[in-house]
Amino acid sequence: MMDKQSGRASRVGDVVLDMKNISLAFGGVKALTDISFDVREHEIRAIIGPNGAGKSSMLNVVNGVYTPQQGNIVFDGKTFSRMSPRRAAEMGIARTFQNLALFKGMSVLDNIMSGRNLRMKCGLLSQALRLGPAEREETRHREFVENIIDFLEIQAWRKTPVGRLPYGLQKRVDLGRALAMEPRMLLLDEPMAGMNIEEKQDMSRYILDVNDEFGTTIVLIEHDMGVVMDISDRVVVLDYGRKIGDGTPDAVRANPDVIRAYLGVDAQANATAAQA
Ligand SMILES: Nc1ncnc2c1ncn2[C@@H]1O[C@H](COP(=O)(O)OP(=O)(O)O)[C@@H](O)[C@H]1O
Ligand SMILES: [Mg+2]
Repeated sequence: MMDKQSGRASRVGDVVLDMKNISLAFGGVKALTDISFDVREHEIRAIIGPNGAGKSSMLNVVNGVYTPQQGNIVFDGKTFSRMSPRRAAEMGIARTFQNLALFKGMSVLDNIMSGRNLRMKCGLLSQALRLGPAEREETRHREFVENIIDFLEIQAWRKTPVGRLPYGLQKRVDLGRALAMEPRMLLLDEPMAGMNIEEKQDMSRYILDVNDEFGTTIVLIEHDMGVVMDISDRVVVLDYGRKIGDGTPDAVRANPDVIRAYLGVDAQANATAAQA
């Protein structure tokens, strides 16, 4: 696998997403309390933390599914007190879901094509009638989707209903569906959950390749600490809805609050070794 730390930091650009003092509660449950962090263009930014820490809620604030009670979202220099899913999509923010949101009965090809809908400009009627421009546009979209299928190396399953694929491949299709939107920023909610080591390595490589080849900015929730340390530029650590750490993987790994809250004995040993 490519070494994230040395090769790529120079590509990271200016802040593209700035979350400012975000608070979100569900009734009495404080999911997020006064959290601020930023994401730079072309960066791979990880969000980690124990179950219930607020990670998925944070992604849902970013893409407008949840409305924070407090705080602002600055994307590309524009300030919002809330996003809407539609606006987020129009601004080029795509996401995958912790629990897959694919159409199980539909083929791999059609699932990825469904991610393309936002990009389709011609009306449904002209598409239905196969009038000239619509037909050409349809062909262009098909070509784009075929490129994604090649990129993710899932050609062999193009026509297979997604529900029949093993879980690891379904996760890859979900990534393909998000890529079909040609996102500027990709939000990945535990893209490697439930995978074996080999599948995790594959997915890590696809994420790095997306970041490299398309320049896509990536915000990634992930539990596997090895993966996070390998592929992310910077890491935010949440615990009980509060931010307890923010920095490079090495800095976060050495942060005593993080070690205490989350990383456990293993990381403590590593941190001690790193400091020695
Ligand atoms: N739609 C919701 N309604 C009520 N409570 C929610 C909702 N979404 C999340 N929560 C609560 O917010 C907290 C953070 O959840 P979540 O963001 O899913 O954490 P994580 O992704 O870090 O495991 C949890 O206590 C969870 O129960
Ligand atoms: Mg979650």
